[in-house]
Amino acid sequence: MKFHVLTLFPEMIENGLHTSITGRAIEKGILSLNTVNIRDFAGNKHNKVDDYPYGGGAGMLMQAEPVYCAYKSVEEQAGRRLRTIYLTPQGKPFCQAMARDLAQEDELVFLCGHYEGIDERVLEEIVTDYVSIGDYVLTGGELPAMVMIDTISRLVKGVLNNGDSAEFESFQDSLLEYPQYSRPEVWRGKEVPPVLLSGHHANVEKWRREQSVLRTAKWRPDLLEKADLSEKEKQMLKGEQKDV
Ligand code: ADE
Repeated sequence: MKFHVLTLFPEMIENGLHTSITGRAIEKGILSLNTVNIRDFAGNKHNKVDDYPYGGGAGMLMQAEPVYCAYKSVEEQAGRRLRTIYLTPQGKPFCQAMARDLAQEDELVFLCGHYEGIDERVLEEIVTDYVSIGDYVLTGGELPAMVMIDTISRLVKGVLNNGDSAEFESFQDSLLEYPQYSRPEVWRGKEVPPVLLSGHHANVEKWRREQSVLRTAKWRPDLLEKADLSEKEKQMLKGEQKDV
């Protein structure tokens, strides 16, 4: 999977993603990261890429032409139009299902805005997807791009060591993940739930599923509407007073 990031702060993206699991996947060649500095396409001797908004208002806007040229340089390299994501609080909310969809592509472009935004005309020309990572406003699109790239990367085959671990975790089937425990068996007087020590695989699975359902009901009841619960699980929740 190849990620292209159009940004005024390439070192932020490089530093963030050349770390930990994504860093190792880049080294192994499973992922590739191409940061493009929009300032390199300023086309003026002061390397200026921003200007005042027509009609007035606070702050500066990123101009259309440098952004367009930065995108075109990537398109030329790829030899085709690429799915291009603009990070903006106005976009569609990012979620695991969107990550799964984007992970099907073999190349993606992320466009990171700064200042008060980007001239609308270039967005109309190059952007295919407008995406927000949440209802709050950040200073730029770099952190959201890294959040998205990290999420998508772990769905790419070979990025995680354990082939299973991307599948059975939070948001799979619209349920949160069950609680997990490791050694020691007793930590500061707190015991690991006995079923996990029983070696009885079916009972462990049953307990985990139940914990996922209970946890989701307690912490994210909004997710349950989309979850595929059995009649028995629905009954359990109806009568449920048990703490998770
Ligand atoms: N840029 C600034 N804030 C953002 C957000 N919440 N999501 C995506 N891009 C952004």
